[in-house]
Amino acid sequence: VEVILQPTPALTWVSTGGILDLYIFLGPDPQSVIRQYLQIIGYPMMPPYWSLGFHLCRWGYTTTNTTRKVAQRMHDENFPMDVQWNDLDYANKRRVFTFDPWRFGDLPEMVEEFHKRGMKYILILDPGISSTSTPGTYSPFDDGLKRDVFIKNATGQILIGKVWPGPTAFPDFTNPDTRQWWEDCIRDFHSKVPVDGLWIDMNEPASFVQGSVEGCPDSDLENPPYTPSVVGGRLNSGTLCMSARQKMSFHYNLHNLYGLTEAYATHSALLKIRRKRPFVLSRSSFPGIGRFSGVWTGDVRSDWEQLRFSIPAVLQFSLFGVPLVGADTCGFGGNTTEELCVRWMQLGAFYPFMRNHNDKPNAPQEPYVFGQRAQAAMRSALYLRYSLLPFLYTLFHHAHASAETVARPLFMEFPNDPNSRTIDKQFLWGSSLLISPVLEQGAVELAAYLPPATWYMFTGFTTLWQFLLLPAPLDTINVHVREGHIIPQQEPALTTTASRNNPFFLIVALSAGGWARGDLFWDDGESVDTFEMQNYCYVIFTSQVVSNPLKLNGALDSLVLGGLQVFGVPSPPRYILANGEKVRDFTYRTDTKVSF
Ligand code: GLC
Repeated sequence: VEVILQPTPALTWVSTGGILDLYIFLGPDPQSVIRQYLQIIGYPMMPPYWSLGFHLCRWGYTTTNTTRKVAQRMHDENFPMDVQWNDLDYANKRRVFTFDPWRFGDLPEMVEEFHKRGMKYILILDPGISSTSTPGTYSPFDDGLKRDVFIKNATGQILIGKVWPGPTAFPDFTNPDTRQWWEDCIRDFHSKVPVDGLWIDMNEPASFVQGSVEGCPDSDLENPPYTPSVVGGRLNSGTLCMSARQKMSFHYNLHNLYGLTEAYATHSALLKIRRKRPFVLSRSSFPGIGRFSGVWTGDVRSDWEQLRFSIPAVLQFSLFGVPLVGADTCGFGGNTTEELCVRWMQLGAFYPFMRNHNDKPNAPQEPYVFGQRAQAAMRSALYLRYSLLPFLYTLFHHAHASAETVARPLFMEFPNDPNSRTIDKQFLWGSSLLISPVLEQGAVELAAYLPPATWYMFTGFTTLWQFLLLPAPLDTINVHVREGHIIPQQEPALTTTASRNNPFFLIVALSAGGWARGDLFWDDGESVDTFEMQNYCYVIFTSQVVSNPLKLNGALDSLVLGGLQVFGVPSPPRYILANGEKVRDFTYRTDTKVSF
């Protein structure tokens, strides 16, 4: 089905047949529309805590030693980072489930080193399985042949396309035997290289030839009576023949599900093998994929327009039930510039999923390659993100448990405010944090909109409902806290392994009426189904009291509340009590009305 939005406004649906199931979600408010939709397609998974940290990747980390050096430089220059990645460079002749014996011979040792330092490791996994190795030398293909896991062409032979390693066969993930074979391949590889998650790419499925190396038969499936405006103008452009056969049906009927079925198979395999919360990142997506995987927005160019487009892209995936989403910071294609990369890292610090990734031929864009001023700006954006991770994690809990959104368009929080409806250059985290990034080259001021509420800057100064110009020098991303909310923070560190032991802090942003509310979801960050198994802590904060935890399982035991700031206290407090005792060293600022 092709659906076109007309300016009227109206939707035009074009279909060549089949059964159309139409659901209409009545809301009435935007948040309930999303919840009703997710009740059909499934609520998103709870990601591991570490996956909310910073990820660093590029195509072109050509050896283990290069990869080690990158992670070391990040550490030496004090940039928080949880996960080091490798692209196809690791694989022997670009064949998945192998690693290059010369350049990546000590990959298992490298991964162990990262683990010892409290970091994680992820690598890329393409679905295309190289079909031209000498028989007996590449077991994923040999074994896959034996177990009959590959997609067939119209005449029943294995369909061969072309991807990075050359000619490849494509696993049919609608076949349970394929899922078992995929799990076995991952298990075998994981026993050598204990990866913490998998990056599943090229899973549209993408192919560099049209349909197959032999083309496609001339049939109605390849040439339906109407072809929607797809890239290349034909349904089989850049992918498989529509007449190809999968266990469940023709590829024609299953094409859009390829990434979803692969994400499901990969998620299940990781769950069985690691017995921890799986992390999967997919390029292709379909409704329901948020149950198994995060998504990144693919090969974005390093330019200002794509920086801007990344906000609506991220917000749309939020509405589709995929809260774990982000674009490659600094851009993937083409050379970035220092200024663009700073602005992109600042915005990226507020993508729910934050990864810097770069294409092979381009100038490097790791934070440490830039000048001191740019580095300082990126470092402070990363520290800001890391300090807010307890809050971000709690938002993910609400997405998982009650279908709320993490990155949130303004109109969802302010549905009755006409100005909020069209804003796609700012967004919220949950209901309380407003993010206003710079998206224009050379800008040091930002035209922003503050929706109807009182908003606090992190300094405590307040701003009311209005359009305004905010100062935004290179080292600044504007973030405002909404009145009536309490934001849990934790002292940042270079990894979440370390930051998770640090003291907590609270920002209490009082409403005019003097109240505020917030919460914290906390567990070990990686066990499976902690919410479902009641293996977590949940604390509600209110402005008058820090309440007793509603649920306790010991996970908070060694953690301390290191301090709090209260915004909007009209006059200096006479005294402050903590656990019934007077706190001696507190301060009050008459200009900002902050007490801390
Ligand atoms: C695709 C991916 C990109 C990756 C490249 C090489 O273009 O989208 O992220 O770096 O393949 O694997």
